[in-house]
Amino acid sequence: MTSSPTPSSAPRRALLTGAAGGIGWGIATHLAELGYALALSDRSSESLAPLLTEVTGTAADVTCLPADLTDPQSVTAAVDAAVARFQGLDVVVNCAGVLKDARVETMTAATFQQVLQVNLIGMLNVTAAAMPALRRSGTGRVISLTSRAWLGNYGSSNYATSKGAIAGVSRSLALSLAADGVTVNCIAPGFVETPMSNSLPANILERVRRSIPVGRVGRPEDIARTVAFLAAREAGYLTGQTITVCGGRSIAGSMR
Ligand SMILES: NC(=O)c1ccc[n+]([C@@H]2O[C@H](COP(=O)([O-])OP(=O)(O)OC[C@H]3O[C@@H](n4cnc5c(N)ncnc54)[C@H](O)[C@@H]3O)[C@@H](O)[C@H]2O)c1
Repeated sequence: MTSSPTPSSAPRRALLTGAAGGIGWGIATHLAELGYALALSDRSSESLAPLLTEVTGTAADVTCLPADLTDPQSVTAAVDAAVARFQGLDVVVNCAGVLKDARVETMTAATFQQVLQVNLIGMLNVTAAAMPALRRSGTGRVISLTSRAWLGNYGSSNYATSKGAIAGVSRSLALSLAADGVTVNCIAPGFVETPMSNSLPANILERVRRSIPVGRVGRPEDIARTVAFLAAREAGYLTGQTITVCGGRSIAGSMR
């Protein structure tokens, strides 16, 4: 697959996984407003259709490339299609993720592995497939969604493990890719209002809100603005880091 570095006036070209989700929607619409060319990926074209309608006409270009992140072949096909369409790729945003909470005593090994398979191995599948194009970009960026939960969260041992592992693997990838101008960073959101987080019981939601120092839960646009900052051509000196975007909750102690 051929690709070329973008001149500084050309639109940035980004592939976003989990685009059909709550945070994915916020990231896609914000990057579209900034004039990005977008490859939107999620499990199905149907789930991406409303977002495609939303960003068409705003984004420099947009295409939907469904892939199951646990299937390396479908991931490679999606990444190759994005590179072919945009003549290269500058940014990968690993946003897809699943949450399957249970206490350790009752969690099956299958549930534990399922979460690692999507959140960690899926992120690695996408990043590995995109690496050659990101290297050619000259200002490549990998931005992965971890979670404040990696600091520890009741009932989330599988999720916290997967998100902590993403932070660790990103630091190693940052070292491997730094010489090629590719930065690798993570964003660890606290509680962000989306379908995933709204599936929690109302009493838990209220306790979470009370535990956030800035007095409100996060919004997808809070995460999207951090993605845009890390994705910019000018952000080349920031790599191997995890930025916690949580309204101060990580400095206020955990919820009990
Ligand atoms: N919402 C929060 O409060 C919060 C907090 C911290 C971290 N995060 C992280 O942010 C990211 C986005 O979260 P969200 O709240 O938008 O969740 P969401 O459930 O709304 O979106 C997640 C998306 O990932 C996709 N996905 C799941 N498994 C997949 C697979 N095998 N292949 C391809 N796509 C798959 C889903 O279809 C979905 O569209 C996730 O990684 C999540 O762990 C969310």
